Amino acid sequence: MPNMKKNTKNFETDAVRAGIERSQFGEHSEGLFLTSSFVFKNAQEAADRFSGKTDGNVYSRFTNPTVKNFEDRLASLEGAQQCIATSSGMSAILATFMALCKPGDHVVASKSIFGTSIQLFNNFFSKWGLRVTYVQLSDLEAWKNAVEKNTKLFFIETPSNPLTEIVDIQKLALISKSAKIKLIVDNCFCTPAIQKPLELGADIVIHSATKYLDGQGRCLGGAVLGKKNIMKNVYIFLRNSGVTLSPFNAWIFLKGLETLQIRMERQSENAQKLASYLESSKNISRVFYPGLKSHAQFSIANKQQKLGGAVLSFEVNGGKKAAWKLINQTKLLSITANLGDTKTTITHPATTTHSRLTQAERDDSGVSDSLIRIAVGLENIEDIKADLHI
Ligand SMILES: Cc1ncc(COP(=O)(O)O)c(C=O)c1O
Repeated sequence: MPNMKKNTKNFETDAVRAGIERSQFGEHSEGLFLTSSFVFKNAQEAADRFSGKTDGNVYSRFTNPTVKNFEDRLASLEGAQQCIATSSGMSAILATFMALCKPGDHVVASKSIFGTSIQLFNNFFSKWGLRVTYVQLSDLEAWKNAVEKNTKLFFIETPSNPLTEIVDIQKLALISKSAKIKLIVDNCFCTPAIQKPLELGADIVIHSATKYLDGQGRCLGGAVLGKKNIMKNVYIFLRNSGVTLSPFNAWIFLKGLETLQIRMERQSENAQKLASYLESSKNISRVFYPGLKSHAQFSIANKQQKLGGAVLSFEVNGGKKAAWKLINQTKLLSITANLGDTKTTITHPATTTHSRLTQAERDDSGVSDSLIRIAVGLENIEDIKADLHI
């Protein structure tokens, strides 16, 4: 009965087959093991598994075959030695920081990261003595200057949300390596179908699997990927804290990964067309999309991303009133802050995803009242354009 434990290094093949370990029933689709615990042949086997003397499943808080299948498949797609799956993207970030930092440590993070990550850092990690300095994502000098004696981690998302700002990962990795700092990239906007941060020198990749890995807006989940020596501590945190991915969600994500590449290609193609269309409209003052020549880091995007991705944003003439009017008259697009779905979503960042920031913080991050974000899906591009009435 052929299993598919080893990866082939061909993305398309690994996306549908990597990590498969068939049970005695010879199922073709990946098995869904909805079980909390596992049975041992005898007391000796139980003792050996618990002590770690022998490998094998013990309890689904930290070992489950379906979750392992997802971990192995995603690891092969990202080119990582190991992947640890978690219950959400936020718990992937939590697990990474808990595993790698101690009180008194310092972290440098991009100003343009997911708002909830900033809340976690400022309101919770700070209580345990972790300090975070925020810098402009694309400004390499600022990263260099922010390094302190006890800086442990650099944390970025590239492209950023919602302005699609980009940093040169290779250059940032050189800075982090020379200072013995670990570079973490939240790769949820691009996914490994478009960008592979570990190949560019990053130490850790984080995912909100909730987004494009699922791809169909069904389940929450996350992942941390990197070298085995780093993942060892992430695994210990997972085992003791229980920020565990459910096997059911892992099974959904396995199915999502099978179509990841073709979804990312088609959704990027739609986004590219939509970005060009918006750029040609006189009602739109600016479009932010890495696939446009007008993008501030177009050449870096071209070098490190296979495609522009499916997220773009734009500023409409007329401020918040005009932005809300445009959003409210859509009939096809979904007004929701989520992204990574086959269904196109539209949101007003200033009053949703970025509403917890102060006006000054929003101004500083470039999120104006006239900004709209669209995460482009798989609908016919002409229907998406028509729904915007631009
Ligand atoms: C870039 C990024 N990272 C992390 C997260 C958090 O993921 P989750 O909602 O799965 O906890 C999100 C969610 O929107 C995100 O956009």
